[in-house]
Amino acid sequence: MSGTLKILPMTASDYDGVRALWMTIKGFGIRALDDSREDVERFIRRNPTTSVVARMDGRIVGSILCGSDGRQGALYHVCVAEEYRRHGIGTQMVAYCIRELTRMGINKVALIAFKSNDVGNAFWKQIGWKQTDANYYELTLNEKNTVEFNRS
Ligand SMILES: CC(C)(COP(=O)(O)OP(=O)(O)OC[C@H]1O[C@@H](n2cnc3c(N)ncnc32)[C@H](O)[C@@H]1OP(=O)(O)O)[C@@H](O)C(=O)NCCC(=O)NCCS
Repeated sequence: MSGTLKILPMTASDYDGVRALWMTIKGFGIRALDDSREDVERFIRRNPTTSVVARMDGRIVGSILCGSDGRQGALYHVCVAEEYRRHGIGTQMVAYCIRELTRMGINKVALIAFKSNDVGNAFWKQIGWKQTDANYYELTLNEKNTVEFNRS
């Protein structure tokens, strides 16, 4: 890492850079609808200040989609480009989201980490997040929202 790191709110114009980053993250599941430009723009319109990008060396090297339903915050697609990891960028981006959610009066934030994601689970534990024993339930509302996993 050589350049200056900038932690900035994610805007709709960051979509291409963020998507390009997502596509490099091994094991990430990219959803046909949720991760499309249209749906990400809608998410940012609903949550205009909470998502974040990390910029360095003229490109986006980290990002988090973060939003709130008015009661609880949620983080999605937390990622840092492989060659920029272990320099505190993930920690700084999460701190940005927490600051913004707190400013909005949100009292809790949650995310899903696959059990098999050793790196992700080590990260969350290290930065003080608590693993719960809750079961996670979901119901697909649109069959077109298929998921494709990046190869590892
Ligand atoms: C998880 C991720 C965002 C962390 O980003 P990062 O910028 O490397 O994180 P940080 O540098 O802030 O790490 C903070 C601490 O977390 C822990 N940690 C991070 N990566 C780790 C790893 N590969 N193995 C063990 N501990 C790790 C360390 O304790 C680290 O502190 P240290 O480097 O001083 O030891 C990044 O590894 C990533 O993009 N992974 C792939 C996508 C992913 O799994 N996202 C999470 C989905 S739930």
